[in-house]
Amino acid sequence: MFTSSIRPIRSENGRILVLDQRKLPHSVEYFDATRLDDMCFAIKEMVVRGAPAIGVAAALALACEGQRLSSARVSPLEFLSQLEKAKGKLEATRPTAVNLRWGAQLIFKLAQDNLSETLDVLAARLVDCARGLIEEDIAINLQIGERGAKLIGDASSVLTHCNAGALATCGWGTALGVIRSAVKLGAHMTVYVDETRPRQQGARLTAWELLEDNIQPTVIADSVAGYLMSKKMVDVVIVGADRITLNGDTANKIGTYTLAVLANVHNVPFYVAAPLSTIDAETLTGKDIPIEERDPHEVTSIGGMEICPEGVNVLNPAFDVTPGRLISAIITEVGIFRPPYEVAIQEALNQIPGVNAGVCPH
Ligand code: MRU
Repeated sequence: MFTSSIRPIRSENGRILVLDQRKLPHSVEYFDATRLDDMCFAIKEMVVRGAPAIGVAAALALACEGQRLSSARVSPLEFLSQLEKAKGKLEATRPTAVNLRWGAQLIFKLAQDNLSETLDVLAARLVDCARGLIEEDIAINLQIGERGAKLIGDASSVLTHCNAGALATCGWGTALGVIRSAVKLGAHMTVYVDETRPRQQGARLTAWELLEDNIQPTVIADSVAGYLMSKKMVDVVIVGADRITLNGDTANKIGTYTLAVLANVHNVPFYVAAPLSTIDAETLTGKDIPIEERDPHEVTSIGGMEICPEGVNVLNPAFDVTPGRLISAIITEVGIFRPPYEVAIQEALNQIPGVNAGVCPH
């Protein structure tokens, strides 16, 4: 079994520590997000980011809040009402990645369905469940990696966007996990990494973590992708996802849709790799996915330096939606789905307890 040394979320000695991704690649520092407000800040400001990572972070934060409430000796009803408020605060931090809601709802429902237990016992159960999600997420990523590595086979070049790696999960990664698994199994491939403006997750984070694993990234400006495809220099595109609706429409980092269109025009397979927790079982199509709009300064500045004349209008959507019809396959821990996606997705969801089941998934 492969392992990955990068651990963006740690839960130890009653504390939640997240690897501060604002500071990478220049310094590796952990941020203490044990207090609920600190975790809300960390998610909103992208200290911790990536859909699966913020899902687990939210679950840990809510469980930790449960522990605080149990120590404060509140009544069971007060416990639940305060926990629901905390859940709302966490969910409001970032609207697009459905994993955030998944993680928070999982812990809340577990509390709601087991309120007959003493609060000490219940709080300990919530913490156990949330902590177990870390290893579970890594195991899921390894399954995605194994399936995806077979799918991309002997591709000699792959292009990825944003960061869907160890840093965006609890370790290993989804899209980058597939690349990691393929390389560990002996593949030799050029890994093109989109810079990913405006936050530069590709240039800063994906490049950093690939180098940590001795995989040489080739970083390109986002606008280079079409040129490379026209020169037949890209065999496969693989990206992660922030939310997949029942018909396979997929929200991911802004620029993903552009890549999918380019890949289709050039007959390059376009794959999405994601865990089932990224599927939004309540939403039929991508048009209902809320798209996060972020601070204009992310666009008007680079590395803290303003690059635009003062007073310009800015549009800064953080995600876009790629229609399922442009996606060649969706790689999950339970299998590879092909279009049309409705049936495969629904069947997979029927096999797992949903977040509303009130049980811990591991
Ligand atoms: O805004 P970010 O950096 O949180 O966006 C992250 C992405 O778009 C990732 O591709 C996605 O969350 C999948 S991570 C496995």
